[in-house]
Amino acid sequence: MRKALALVLVCLALAVFFAGCGSKIGPGYDEKEVYIGLFVSTSGEIATFGTDTKNGVELAVEEINKAGGINGKQIKLIAYDTASKADEGKTAATKLATQDGVLVSMGAVASGISLAAAPEFQKYGIPMVSPSSTNPTVTQVGDHIFRICYLDDFQGGACAVFASKDLKAKKAAILQNQDDAYSTGLADFFEAKFKALGGEVVAKESYKKGASDFKTQVTNIKGKSPEVIFVPCYYNDVALIAKEFRAQDVTVPLLGGDGWESDKLIPSAGSALEGSYFGNHYSQEDDNPKVKKFVEAYKAKYGNVPSSLAALGYDVVYVVKEGIEKAGDFDRKKIRDALAGLKAFDGVTGKFDIDENRDARKPISMLKIEGERFAPVRQIKPEEVQ
Ligand code: PHE
Repeated sequence: MRKALALVLVCLALAVFFAGCGSKIGPGYDEKEVYIGLFVSTSGEIATFGTDTKNGVELAVEEINKAGGINGKQIKLIAYDTASKADEGKTAATKLATQDGVLVSMGAVASGISLAAAPEFQKYGIPMVSPSSTNPTVTQVGDHIFRICYLDDFQGGACAVFASKDLKAKKAAILQNQDDAYSTGLADFFEAKFKALGGEVVAKESYKKGASDFKTQVTNIKGKSPEVIFVPCYYNDVALIAKEFRAQDVTVPLLGGDGWESDKLIPSAGSALEGSYFGNHYSQEDDNPKVKKFVEAYKAKYGNVPSSLAALGYDVVYVVKEGIEKAGDFDRKKIRDALAGLKAFDGVTGKFDIDENRDARKPISMLKIEGERFAPVRQIKPEEVQ
């Protein structure tokens, strides 16, 4: 009798063990909850990107859950810190897919990290929606990969239009991070458009990932006397680069893309970026009531004004919600199809469709650095860049 009982217990223990070992690519929900993943960098070199995004995401999740969830189920957010590293992005994706069994995942911010993670989600048939990765190749990974922001061909082109038409520059220089797809992509798109508009790119200099000394590149650029310098890099590098230009008495404006946006930018750069410009996804000073309401709610929860990363983080949750509701079912394939046909989504970063390439077309807000303020100069629409 005791032997039989022991056998039953051993069998039970084995059953539990093997159930735990198997692939847990679950349906992404249980009775009460729907599992949604998030992978962003809240530590490391680009920590403010992930922190702001996560804050925006959590605000939206809180609002949605309070209002009854998605089709009656509460959102359970499963988040990983990718520590500003591409391989951590891949690890997080594998975990979200095989261990957590999320229904859909949101992330990453940096294109390089999205590019490392996307093949995993594609392989497991899990829709991935990036709030803010702008490199064109991200969504080309496969039919399960989406984004809700504009792309770098547009962003780089818009910066060239701005340099040429607004700043009236004829000669531009470029300083890029040669090891980052975001940086080199943006640099190439800027260069092509600036030339097409009749401008000349007098210098194109590169640095390696992790560099902190930009003396040689800055000296080379200075020798060519450009009227504007395009720096398509992330905020930590931008601050160091700006200081080096000013140390060598190069006073022309620097120009960049969304990667500049961080509350760490001005504290690190000091006055070196005064009067410089960058393009971004929204303006905190927009008087659209939807934006105002979001800015107020965010300020009340976190005590600071939301960056565009926070705004995109907030929007991406509502896009996922709309996708699941449109699918009418907690089914990944149906959600993928619903996301692929999403029309006229009305978010705080604008009204947009998800097109046949799973991308969004949106205007860019050109901002000027004035003290601590990112002052809106003007919006550039996609039509102006074609
Ligand atoms: N667009 C950047 C990238 O693709 C990420 C980013 C988005 C950074 C928005 C700041 C603000 O790498």
